[in-house]
Amino acid sequence: MPALVLLGAQWGDEGKGKATDLLGGSVDYVVRYQGGNNAGHTVVVGDQKYALHLLPSGILSPGCTPVIGNGVVVDPSVLLSELSGLNERGVDTSKLLISGNAHIITPYNVTVDKVTERFLGKRKIGTTGRGIGPTYADKINRVGIRVQDLYDESILTQKVEAALDVKNQMLTKLYNRRAIAVEQVVEELLGYADKLAPYVADTVLVLNEALEQDKVVLFEGGQGTLLDIDHGTYPFVTSSNPTAGGACTGAGVGPTKISRVIGILKAYTTRVGAGPFPTELFDEDGEALRRIGGERGVTTGRDRRCGWFDAVIARYATRVNGLTDFFLTKLDVLTGWEQIPVCVAYEIDGRRVEELPYSQTDFHHAKPVYEMLPGWNEDISKVKSFSDLPKNAQAYVKALEEMSGAPISAIGVGPGRTETIEINSFL
Ligand code: IMP
Repeated sequence: MPALVLLGAQWGDEGKGKATDLLGGSVDYVVRYQGGNNAGHTVVVGDQKYALHLLPSGILSPGCTPVIGNGVVVDPSVLLSELSGLNERGVDTSKLLISGNAHIITPYNVTVDKVTERFLGKRKIGTTGRGIGPTYADKINRVGIRVQDLYDESILTQKVEAALDVKNQMLTKLYNRRAIAVEQVVEELLGYADKLAPYVADTVLVLNEALEQDKVVLFEGGQGTLLDIDHGTYPFVTSSNPTAGGACTGAGVGPTKISRVIGILKAYTTRVGAGPFPTELFDEDGEALRRIGGERGVTTGRDRRCGWFDAVIARYATRVNGLTDFFLTKLDVLTGWEQIPVCVAYEIDGRRVEELPYSQTDFHHAKPVYEMLPGWNEDISKVKSFSDLPKNAQAYVKALEEMSGAPISAIGVGPGRTETIEINSFL
């Protein structure tokens, strides 16, 4: 049964867009199952660079049906401007399907995201400020607005009223902001209804029927394993489940349908926002990784924090996702270092620890234990087969594979669509 999950094995930004896009030509459906426009995929097609935030990267592959699943939170204004931006560049977006059960990021959710972050001060999460957390909070509090609500004005009004009831008290009394008018929100949301209507569908039914017909379905996670609300570095996480189980709940397919789970793994580590990061570098090596790797957020434009590869995290990702394969990205960025440190374990309060500690306190105290691997100087961006990589680059990949617990089935050696070494086919 060809249902694949593709997700970030670290803190996001591992280069998922490139991997999804590589498979996009041979898959029938590409599905996003969680997150919203906090994600950022960069896909390079020919000399064109596309930055996608909410849309599944399959939108760039003709023949592929892109799906926004029920687990996603949708900001309609962002979605419509992303669609028109693509249309202006000649990309056909008419096949897109959006779950009627997906929740809508309303303007007040964005406001609440920003004011609460400001209120947290030093303790802030460093969110993308796109309203993601507050929208999921409304979903769990059962005061969320769903895409289907746009098509019943009376219900929509009642739901917006319910959602703003407490929020307006909070905004005015606690945060000293103006109250948000129900009518204004309802009017704005209704303005999106007709524009979104052609895309709204029962995506659960569509996807399950597709799987019954043996179509290839690719579930594309946003963010990454360590940003997962349950399995990540809580509370410095996003508010959804990028890990593999999230594909089931966020798209409405049973776990028995998933045949392969591919973890995207950067050859080093990056993170945006606050929170612990044991291999983070504050020296010229970190600066060099940022510069050479172009490590600046696609969504927020923030510089990413950079550090060496962390095998403890990779092993953890294998475990919590049941990974069957890795796609190793950005190996080319490491070209030119004489020796490359790789974190093989942590030292926590004088103890050597091989696996990710479940205690937040321990993780905050974790210091990386490094093993040095020899580097290479040759340009590897044109290499097409594993055996043509410099010997030390081969050894680096093999070492990572051994430490991480799943086979590395593809390697990214440059940003372009074709700059990939395929070792095992994903399909
Ligand atoms: P939120 O998802 O905007 O609520 O932000 C929560 C945390 O997740 C922050 O540390 C963000 O920087 C991080 N985050 C959210 N989306 C991404 C992403 O696509 N890549 C990397 N980090 C992300």
